[in-house]
Amino acid sequence: MIDQDGYFGESVAQRYDDSSSEMFQHDVVAVTADVLAGLAAGGRALELGIGTGRVAVPLAERGVQVHGIDLSRAMVARLRAKPGGDAIGVTIGDFATTTVGGTFSLAYLVFNTIMNLTTQEEQVACFRNVAAHLAPGGCFVVEVMVPELRKLPPGQQAVPFQTGASGWAFDLYDVATQQMSSNYVEVVDGRGSYRSIPFRYVWPAELDLMAQLAGLRLRERWDGWTRAPFTNESPSHVSVWEKPVG
Ligand SMILES: C[S@@+](CC[C@H](N)C(=O)[O-])C[C@H]1O[C@@H](n2cnc3c(N)ncnc32)[C@H](O)[C@@H]1O
Repeated sequence: MIDQDGYFGESVAQRYDDSSSEMFQHDVVAVTADVLAGLAAGGRALELGIGTGRVAVPLAERGVQVHGIDLSRAMVARLRAKPGGDAIGVTIGDFATTTVGGTFSLAYLVFNTIMNLTTQEEQVACFRNVAAHLAPGGCFVVEVMVPELRKLPPGQQAVPFQTGASGWAFDLYDVATQQMSSNYVEVVDGRGSYRSIPFRYVWPAELDLMAQLAGLRLRERWDGWTRAPFTNESPSHVSVWEKPVG
């Protein structure tokens, strides 16, 4: 359901940090924050789609000054309630176009959130917005899945990713338009609910072209936060583009 907070309104925000997904495990978040702290290299960091501060709070704990942008007041309220959350500045707005003061040595957009921008124009605008916020030598980090089209047999659009007694979840792909959605069916006390979030899936090479349009160039592409090499079997990637000096 969409409201003024987008797809991350109160009902999502109140349960967001209870997830049992590995993305919320302490060691996974710690490695993420360590890599980002290294890339910030003593400068300020800008998180696009900061949410509840899953990554921003541990990054700030590592001594990095973090500022965030997010559409959802409900998600940001959870960040504010965390120890250290008050020290993190947040601007409410669309990260494709919202500007904040000063420059940053690091901007980052994790957990597939680039795909929340559902048009190519918005994704390109996001790269341009980031580039305008980066100091020369600064970098932009994106963590995003590789589209799972290899799991689609001809004529089929759905990729299930959760099947259980009380819930099912599946992605729907439209390969003609590059639109997709993640869909969740949950049954509680015999009553079903359905939630659908729209995305635009995007390939690594297309992201490189967006970076090029914004004046950035690829520095690294890893399979994940452990910095393992990205291969043709990698389910996702962490990519780092830099703003050239001079
Ligand atoms: C999957 S959550 C990720 C939150 C956090 N980065 C994390 O890793 O846990 C996506 C977040 O991006 C925000 N978001 C999605 N689209 C946005 C947009 N166009 N502008 C600003 N925030 C957006 C949502 O409100 C939500 O808080």
